[in-house]
Formats: sequence, structure tokens, C-alpha cells
Amino acid sequence: MIQRITLRRPDDMHLHLRDGAMLKGIVGETTRHFARAIIMPNLERPVVTAAVALAYRSRILAALPKGAVFEPLMTLYLTETTDPADVAAAHASGLVKAVKLYPAGATTNSNSGVRNFDAVRAVFEKIAEIGLPLCVHGEVTDPSVDIFDREAVFIDKVLDPIRRNTPGLRVIMEHITTSEGVAYASAGGTGLAATITTHHLIINRNHILAGGIKPHYYCLPVAKRESHRLALRKAATSGDARFFLGTDSAPHVDAAKEHACGCAGCFTATNTVQILAHVFEEDGALPQLEAFTSLNGAAFYRLPPNDSTITLTKGQPAGWPEKILTEAGPVTVFNPGYPVHWHVET
Ligand code: DOR
Ligand code: ZN
Repeated sequence: MIQRITLRRPDDMHLHLRDGAMLKGIVGETTRHFARAIIMPNLERPVVTAAVALAYRSRILAALPKGAVFEPLMTLYLTETTDPADVAAAHASGLVKAVKLYPAGATTNSNSGVRNFDAVRAVFEKIAEIGLPLCVHGEVTDPSVDIFDREAVFIDKVLDPIRRNTPGLRVIMEHITTSEGVAYASAGGTGLAATITTHHLIINRNHILAGGIKPHYYCLPVAKRESHRLALRKAATSGDARFFLGTDSAPHVDAAKEHACGCAGCFTATNTVQILAHVFEEDGALPQLEAFTSLNGAAFYRLPPNDSTITLTKGQPAGWPEKILTEAGPVTVFNPGYPVHWHVET
């Protein structure tokens, strides 16, 4: 039985770092284990231009704990007024690695997102030409579509037409939550990939709703039924290069989660690597863990894998803080609901 495993240092290909006091309070939770992360642009004032992205990058670097070695990989928030030339300039800077598509109204701070997908056609064409990936939040926002069906409907009604109309467009389906998402990503060829979160490998919708509502398990896209979770587990642990880790670790203070209209997001930065070792071991897939956390994402983003490594060992149940205390308020760390015996060596 494997008791110790060394991996290239992981990358988190989908991360919310926020800004200000929250950024300062939580960034060290990621830099402890990860070398790089794709930084989501959905700040209260979204990261809509190259200049805004570079300023945000400087604030992230300024907030890093002493001695941390970490590279934020920046993204641009796509709006209907995004200038393709600005996107090209952002790409040329070498510091912006993707454009993020939020359907307007789909999730936290998405009101500046896209309502009319034809309005952003010129940006799709430009990024297809320069090879910059489009990270897609794949949910329709039509109120008549059941929230548990919004991902599958998005794939059929929005994503597939966009891909057919834009040859060469490189797409990352972010945080897929359904067997339909797995199937579509699997059939898509080399220009298509998907990130999978830690929490969607652990929870299904019963965890959120049965036996009392659990606000800290509420995120978007919302966890689906068990058959979908199993499809995600199979994809993540397969070693298939099209699937890689994007935690979607999304801190909100407890007061905003434990609320009559609670915010979406699970905070998994602190314990993702330990939990993933548990999940991959459970599925007999520890040899595939490095591909998921450290190789497949880098390859899709055309980055070299990290030179440094981390080592995990199995032992006593691992401990982590129940909450991260930030100056913005306490943030609850994701609770997988069972003991995890994997530790990251320091
Ligand atoms: O659960 C989520 N939280 N899903 C998202 O798409 C956004 C994120 C956030 O920013 O809070
Ligand atoms: Zn996200």
C-alpha cells in the first residue's frame, strides 16, 4: 500500500483570491501547496482590461506571505464591450493566460457578464487566432430552466454552437458537475478540456439538502445527484489529459454563507491536496493524482510543469483549521465529512 507520494507541485487552474482584507487573509492557504493558480476575475469591480489585470496581479504579489513562491496566472473578465485588441495586448504581456466567460447573472459578481453571445464574437475570433483559452462558466441563466439542468442545457444551447462557429477556439469547461459535462469534454478533441473541483468529487445534492440545509456545501454550479458525482470521480482519476484540477475555492465570510440568501462557494484551498490524495487512493488511482493536480492543466495552458515537488504521507487523521480568521471575517474550510489521513510534508 502506498504510504508516501511525491508530486510535481500542483497548480490550481480555477481560484478565487478576492481582494483587500480577504485576499490577505486567504492567499497563504493556496501558496502553502500550490505553485501557480488561474485567478478568477469576478471581483466586485471585475477585472475587465489588461491594465486592471496587471494592477490586480501586483496586489496579489504584495499580499503573499513572506517567502512564498507563487505565480498568479491572470484572467480577463469578458464583457460585451471587451476590446479584442486589449485582449491581444493582455496575452502579449505574458501575464494573462485566459479570458473568462460568465453568462450574466450565473454566479457571484457576474452581472457584467455576457447576455448576448453574438456580441462577443470578435473576441472569440481573436482568442482563437492567438491561442488564448476561454474559461467558461457553463450554466444558462434562463429562470425557466431547472437549476440542476442548467449545465447540460448550456452545453447544447450555448457552448456547442459557440465552438462550432469558432474553429480553433480553445475552451476550458470550468467546474463541470454532470455526466453530460464529462461526456462533452471527452468527445471534444484537443481544443477542449474541463476543470473539476475538489468538492464536486465529494458531495452530491443530498449533502446540501438532506437532514438540514448546509450552506457551506452550496456552490455554483450546484452539486448534482450521485450518478454525476461518480462520473466526475471517474474522469478526474482516469489520468485523461483533458481533466484537471480547478478548485473553485471561493471564500465568503461565514456571515454571508449562513444567511437567508447565502452566497455560493466552497473554500477548499486549505485541504484540497490532502482530500484529493484520499479520493484518488479510495479509487485506486494514486498514480494518476499528479496528472490531475500538476501536469494536465499545465499542458493545456502550454506551461511547463513545476520543477519543485510536494510530498504527501499517510498517517494519523489530518488536522486543519475549521475556519480561517481573516480581517474580513471568518471563512469556513470545506469539511469532507470524513477523516483524511494524508498530510503534506513541510
Ligand atoms: O460557487 C461559486 N462561487 N461559483 C462560482 O461560479 C463563483 C464563486 C464565487 O466567486 O463566489
Ligand atoms: Zn469560480
